[in-house]
Amino acid sequence: MRISVFRDSVNADRVGASILLKEIREKLNPKLGLATGSSPVGIYRQLAELYRRNHFSFKHVSSFNLDEYVGLSEDHPQSYAAFMREHLFQHLDIEPRNIHIPNGIAESAEEECIRYEKLLQEAGPLDIQLLGIGLNGHIGFNEPGKNLSSETHLVTLTEETRRANARWFLLDGQTPRQAITMGVGPIMKAKKVLLIAQGEEKSSIIQEAFLGPITTHCPASLLQLHPNLLVLLDEAAASRLIDDSQPSFRIYVNKRIDFLYEPDLRELVQ
Ligand code: GLP
Repeated sequence: MRISVFRDSVNADRVGASILLKEIREKLNPKLGLATGSSPVGIYRQLAELYRRNHFSFKHVSSFNLDEYVGLSEDHPQSYAAFMREHLFQHLDIEPRNIHIPNGIAESAEEECIRYEKLLQEAGPLDIQLLGIGLNGHIGFNEPGKNLSSETHLVTLTEETRRANARWFLLDGQTPRQAITMGVGPIMKAKKVLLIAQGEEKSSIIQEAFLGPITTHCPASLLQLHPNLLVLLDEAAASRLIDDSQPSFRIYVNKRIDFLYEPDLRELVQ
């Protein structure tokens, strides 16, 4: 595991976009696991900008989103399908047939989970999985609990998650109660995992997830076991990783924490 901390989130976004771009440029048919929420928006903005300036193509890229709200169609403005269109897909030449997102209005949500899981298994390991992190440590919509599922499943959102996500909906009662989410299997099997978080609000859960014990009560903590995990943070999100009593002691056992402040993009973007 490697944690890189930047002075501000734009620098973290630039590095995140460059890492995705590297996959897109170097792989024949890159398979990207994509995330929603405010955390990856800056990376998507950078990718759209890089596309606009350099015109590298996304035609050979396949994308697999983590999750979708049950009851929201792809045209609903708060659906994750609409989010992905708005923040990324409409700006690029990705082929619509290569975009995969669970269908929130499938007649049977259970069958939709089976369909999505089959799709993921047939695709094989994702080349890279982009993740945000929920305030309770969820990844995708894999909520904390006694168990975690490795496969795509229907999930009842915790009140905490509904409260956190209510900001996207006009009225409180409109926040969906259920979602379809990729399980932790494809996330852990992805060749690389890139988790991004910004702001003071995320500092406690970042500390818990990456310096705390590995537990299903904090799903993101499982990522400590991933062989190729990079966590990109701004200073505020990383504020609890610094041991104030020993400001110079910044390397924790088995964890490499780089305080980069200014990213060096030379190796990443040509
Ligand atoms: C939602 C998504 C997660 C995301 C989380 C954090 O619950 N299902 O994939 O990581 O929100 O959102 P934000 O980045 O807005 O804090």
